[in-house]
Formats: sequence, C-alpha cells, structure tokens
Amino acid sequence: MACFFRRSAALQLAKACGQNEETLIPLISVAPVNKKQSVADLRVSVSHLLQSGAVRPDGDLQNTTHTLARQIRTDAVVEEVIPGRGVIHFRLNKLLLAQKLLDQLRSDPDGFGVKSEILRRLRVGRTLVEFSSPNIAKKFHAGHLRSTIIGNFIANLKKALGNEVIRVNYLGDWGMQFGLLGSGFERFGSQEKLRTQPLEHLFEVYVQVNREAESDASVRSAAAHFFRRLEQSEEQALELWRHFREITIHEYKRIYQRLGVEFDHYSGESFHRAETQTVLDELRSRRLLKTSQKGTGVVDLSDKGDMSNYATLVRSDGTSLYITRDVAAALDRKQRFSFDEMIYVTDKSQTMHFQQLFRILQAMGHPWAGSCHHVAFGLVQGMSTRRGEVLFLEDVLEEAQSRMIHNMRQSRTSKELEDPEVTAERIGISALIVQDFKGPLISDYRFEWDKVLQAQGDTGVFLQYTHARLCSLLRQQDCEISCSDFSPLTDSRSVSLLQHLLRYDEVLLQCATDLQPKHLVNFLMTLSHLVASAHRELPVKGSSEAVAQARLCLFSSVRSVLANGMRILGITPVDKM
Ligand code: ARG
Repeated sequence: MACFFRRSAALQLAKACGQNEETLIPLISVAPVNKKQSVADLRVSVSHLLQSGAVRPDGDLQNTTHTLARQIRTDAVVEEVIPGRGVIHFRLNKLLLAQKLLDQLRSDPDGFGVKSEILRRLRVGRTLVEFSSPNIAKKFHAGHLRSTIIGNFIANLKKALGNEVIRVNYLGDWGMQFGLLGSGFERFGSQEKLRTQPLEHLFEVYVQVNREAESDASVRSAAAHFFRRLEQSEEQALELWRHFREITIHEYKRIYQRLGVEFDHYSGESFHRAETQTVLDELRSRRLLKTSQKGTGVVDLSDKGDMSNYATLVRSDGTSLYITRDVAAALDRKQRFSFDEMIYVTDKSQTMHFQQLFRILQAMGHPWAGSCHHVAFGLVQGMSTRRGEVLFLEDVLEEAQSRMIHNMRQSRTSKELEDPEVTAERIGISALIVQDFKGPLISDYRFEWDKVLQAQGDTGVFLQYTHARLCSLLRQQDCEISCSDFSPLTDSRSVSLLQHLLRYDEVLLQCATDLQPKHLVNFLMTLSHLVASAHRELPVKGSSEAVAQARLCLFSSVRSVLANGMRILGITPVDKM
C-alpha cells in the first residue's frame, strides 16, 4: 500500500522533472515517525535525484531543492510539497492514508507489506537456507542456538516475500569423533540410558572416552580402529553409528518443535563421504589439486598463484576434511534442489572457511557460487543455566520457561491462563530471540537472563505483552468491527501509527537486503510503543460508535502487522499473558 502513495508522489515528481515515474519510485521513502511532530510524509533526497540524473542542479543543493519543490504540483493524495534540507517532503492526505491503508489491511492482512512492489526484485525463486547444524554427541552451544534462530528468521523472511524455501540441517555426523564415540559406547554405553536420555548419554560417553584417550594410547587406537571400520562401511559399526544419528535427530526434532523451528532435510557430513572422491578427482583433472611438501592435497586460492591463500582438501593419510565434504555437499545440493541462492548461517569463526568454499566452487567452474552467501554472527558470552554451562538446547528452553513462570507468578498475570507453561515458554523464547536480534548479528554480546526477560524496555516480553493487550481489547467487542468512516483517525496519535505502518515494506526490504533482523525488531518496538500510547489516549469505551469502530479497526490492523512481524522473527505471538 505504501506503493500507492509512493507512486502518487513519484507521478508528481516525474511531471516536474520530465522523467518516467517508475524510475523514481524506488527513490521515494516513508519518513520515520518523529516524536515531536506527527506528519504523514513521504520524502525524496535531492542528492539522490541529482546522482541518478533525474534532476539538473540549479545552483547549490538548497537552491535546487527549492526550485524543484516549487515545480511539483499537489493533488488529492499529495496535499503539500515542502522543501527541507536537501530533501523534499510530500505531505499526504491523512484521511486517504487511513482509508487506503486500513482497507488493505482488512482485506489482506497477511499480504500487507510482503507483497509490496519494492520487494519484487527480492523474489529470487528457490532459496536454500542451511542452519543450526549441531554435532552429534558434542555440546549444543550458544552458537548453535544463534544459528538456529537466525537461520529460521532468514528462512521465514524469504518465504514471506514469496520465495520457495528449503531448510537444511547439516549435522556434524562424521569424522574421528565417531571413532571415539563408537569405541567408547562399546565399552561403557547403556542402551537403557540411550533410550531415556539419548543426548545426555551420548555426550557423557563422548566426554569420558575423550578423557581416557588423553592418557591411554590403547583407547586412541581402539577409536582409530572403530573409525576405520566406519570408513570401510563395516555393517556392525555403521549400524551403531546409524542408531546414534537417528535418535539424535529424533530428539532434536522434538526440541526444535518447542522452538517453532522445522527442517525439510536433515543431511550431514556423512552424506557426502562417497562424493568427496568425485570432488577430488574433478579437482585433479582440472589441475587444481596439488600435493604439498607435507603430502597433503591443497588448492591454491591466491590471486597470484603463490599459495598465499590455500585450502587443504586431503590429509596426508588420504582422508577428507570438513571443507572437502562441504564442496561435495554444495555440488550435491545444487543438483538435487537447483536452488537460486544458498545461505549458510554460522558464527564468524567460519567466515574464512566459507570464503574458501565459494572460491573453490568458482574455480571448479560453477558461477552459481556467486549466489552462495555466508551469514556470520558474533559470540555470546555468559549464557549459562542452573545446570551450569549450556550443553543442551533443551536446558536453555527449560531455563527460559521456568524463569518466565516465576516472573509471571510474581506479577500475578498468569492466573487465568489455561496453559501457563506453554505461554511462559513462548514468551521466554521471544525474549531470547529479541535480545539476540537487537544489534548487528556480527557483534558479540553478553547474555544476562534478568535483562533478557524484563517486561519493560525493548524486550521480547514487551512485544508479547503489547500483542496480548491488543488481543484482549479486541476480545471485548461482541460484534464484528466494521469501519466506513475514517475521519476519527486524523489525530496525531493515529497518524503516527499509520505513518509507521506505511514503512513496513521498506523495513522488510532492509532486512532482506542485508539479512539483519534488527530493522524489523526496531520497527516492531516502535510500533509497540506507539500503540501503547495510542491505547492510553484513544479510548474505545465511552466513544461514539463511529469513533470506537475506527479506533478498533486501527488497533486490529496494528495487531495483525505486529503478529506477522513477530512470526517472521520466529516468535509465536500469545493472545493472553
Ligand atoms: N557442524 C558445524 C559446527 O558445529 C557447523 C556446520 C556449518 N555448515 C557447513 N556447511 N559447514 O561448527
């Protein structure tokens, strides 16, 4: 809908500078809501117009701005044209703003924003997002949690914008660790414990065998032996490995469900064991694989061919490495899913790894490597639970839930809830997500439960609270909301809200361009603050029927944008809390 207004402004601008309106539309943006003054404004930067050649300079920037502003006509949509500092403001007809925006929000609440014209070029087709990707029997640390929620956000966003999305979990399910795990399990594993507490038990065995391996060479050779059996596809060893893998996936599926996350495919490093050989053969035939002095197989990735940047793909004993499996996995995925773009989400320590991966793919003659991206994020410090350091994803969820239940009991908000545990968990998870998404993903941050779970301030709890309050307001109405007269919505509070809603598509555009969720988090926070003051100052009860209906219509629209935005972030909005 923002497009209708942008187009109207572009049309008048186009007439004034003798250009095609289509080329001007992307240059017009919605002004952010200003605390001091509530206006319904679009704007265009005159420097941008000069840069794009749409406008010729007339003296300095200020003079050009004034000259241009004078030439732009007003109409029924754009009521006033105001020159500012290097920008031109288009003041919109407020009544029309309310009418158009709310009409569209009522007829297609879920299409609002996401179907906007300015997002069209971001519909690329099929996107593969690889995220979470924990390692079997090892700990699920805060980095895996970040990858899970960030990847989920990216997948949700891409999907909301009309792309087909494939979600892949690439498990660490191969390598020497399985030699240790397998041989350890044969000695002190318990089938009973594996059934009742699979993740804990596997981890326990893994920790114990590692400890023993440090001082005992026979443990190390037993592990090497077990891994050799795996590499040679010995059925009994494979059977045990398969069992570990299956129960791990089964457990993870259950826990991801609590987080509201789902995958289309569980793949893993093991999948591409056989294909690594093909990769190496191809690299050899392209003369890309060289044998180093140490006897390893390397690919030179330097620009000058002086080995100042290279990747090792084969160990001296002939076995493959993490990156070799990644090359095989990428080739396999391209063939299997024919994705148009692929996104990997891991912490920033793997940035170099992915740069090398993409360069190898390029060197192998795959131009689609240019549509592969790595989204990197920073480290979280100090995330711990009552059980200590985070080892399992479920511990984080339990901690968030129990702390939230405690907070809700203290503020006595939970008494009428049918299922306080479910609500507490949802709110707890929203709090984790918002905390994580507030800043640039690349930044490290310190984790503090008390700060994360605060009800006031810019937290996930506050978003949920705002949503629940709107639901409660709307629940109090016994008949359906219908509004035909929008004139009660031209006061400053309502205009600020409408103006803010108008920006939604631009915020989605920012998120989809740099894959950073902070834009959407900020947008939803501001929306929540604006609607909180509107709620205080624009009563429904006691107002005339027309005013009450118009306000309810506005609140109901805000609720649906809030809920949809939260869902894109990976948050399930609660109706009561
Ligand atoms: N399992 C790896 C880890 O825990 C992450 C895998 C990332 N994805 C990839 N294709 N390499 O560090």
